[in-house]
Amino acid sequence: MPGNRGKVAVIGQGHIGLRVAVRAAEVGWSVAGYDIDETRVKELMSGLGARDGLETKRLVSVLDSGAYTPTSAQEDISYFDVAVIAVPTPVGVDGSPDLSHIVDAVDMLGKYLKIGATVSIESSLHPGATEGVVASGLAYSSGKEPGVDFYLGYSPERVDTGNKQYLFENTPKIVSGINDASLNAIDDFYLTLVEKTVRVAGTSEAELAKLLENTFRQVNVALVNEIALAASSLGIDVGEALRAAETKPFGYMGFHPGTGTGGHCLLSASSYLSWSARNSSGPPLMVVEAAMRVNSSMAGHVVQQIVNCITGNGGRVEGSKILILGLAYKPGVSETANSSAIDIANTLAGMGAQVFAADPHVQECSTLSDSIAMVEATPQRCAEADVVALLVNHREFDIDQLAGKCRLLVDPLYVTGSRNALCK
Ligand SMILES: NC(=O)c1ccc[n+]([C@@H]2O[C@H](COP(=O)([O-])OP(=O)(O)OC[C@H]3O[C@@H](n4cnc5c(N)ncnc54)[C@H](O)[C@@H]3O)[C@@H](O)[C@H]2O)c1
Repeated sequence: MPGNRGKVAVIGQGHIGLRVAVRAAEVGWSVAGYDIDETRVKELMSGLGARDGLETKRLVSVLDSGAYTPTSAQEDISYFDVAVIAVPTPVGVDGSPDLSHIVDAVDMLGKYLKIGATVSIESSLHPGATEGVVASGLAYSSGKEPGVDFYLGYSPERVDTGNKQYLFENTPKIVSGINDASLNAIDDFYLTLVEKTVRVAGTSEAELAKLLENTFRQVNVALVNEIALAASSLGIDVGEALRAAETKPFGYMGFHPGTGTGGHCLLSASSYLSWSARNSSGPPLMVVEAAMRVNSSMAGHVVQQIVNCITGNGGRVEGSKILILGLAYKPGVSETANSSAIDIANTLAGMGAQVFAADPHVQECSTLSDSIAMVEATPQRCAEADVVALLVNHREFDIDQLAGKCRLLVDPLYVTGSRNALCK
């Protein structure tokens, strides 16, 4: 029966909050999905707005059953048994965590917090934030004692957007609480949603685990990007070297060169970690900070590769027709936040090139220069371009067919097997 488990309020109905809300509604909770963005709420009410791996039919089904109600009316979350906070936690201008959305959510939630309720944070946080700013904020706004009058914990979202094998339901879920009673309450809730939970002793350890997972990727992507640049200068086929290294069945994990890292998570995780270290009495995280610098420099290297490709073949960038294949921040997703491909396309357009862009997952993008036309990735479009740059390896691109039509192809992903990321 819908709602027989009790009432869940999910604060923030973006990528993460919607997933949790739909899953909770499916397993018998009565769910209010609260978001301050009324346009987003209207979109969800009409069954639209499920993104990147969450199927629309699941959203429609829980809307139709009445188990899920999107809302921007605060009073709709009244009497919740469990609240999940999934609002954005961006990086501030000085690299510090911007917790303004968390603070707003906590202020609002406190007004509706009843004795015995449970609050779980899914937003990415720096170590110490749940026990610190969240617990004290809820205590202030509710007048109740965290861990005694209500339970509080941290359970980071680990979703890998675009991953079809590991979904919310079958990815082990880290759970933690500010005390044992809170840990038990948080664990009990998530065991209704996912196959397996992983109990972690403290919320700071759970916050650190989440940041470590993402920073691991940031560092390894930077390593392989740096190796690819060095191999190019040495005239060595890095794609072949990577394929060889990946045959080692232990002690090595394959990462692939590209245009840098994008999305929200890797950037915020690495920034939060390095900010935390710099605000402690310990040493700074030199490897992490270097990795961020390497990855953020990659877009500039790729622009240079494209420029070299054009000029090395007797052309001029100004007026050249450049087709960009892929705008999303990684394959298989529509998200373009912090995507290097957008920076590369905009930079080339700013240099006077006629830039076209094709991405089967991206229909529109507000950060893309107005002068860049969105087109289909067809063999004819490739043949018409002076140079084609493959920036995201979406499955939908028939690379063999498209590459065969390009006059010049820049492939910083090394998927076509070129020796130096430059020109076929
Ligand atoms: N997207 C991912 O793949 C991913 C993965 C792991 C963790 N995270 C983390 O999860 C959190 C949420 O990320 P997301 O991708 O869902 O963000 P999102 O931008 O897709 O959605 C956030 C939603 O929260 C709403 N919101 C903002 N302030 C609010 C408030 N005070 N009350 C109610 N709603 C509010 C926004 O309107 C928006 O709809 C972030 O901390 C992010 O770092 C994201």
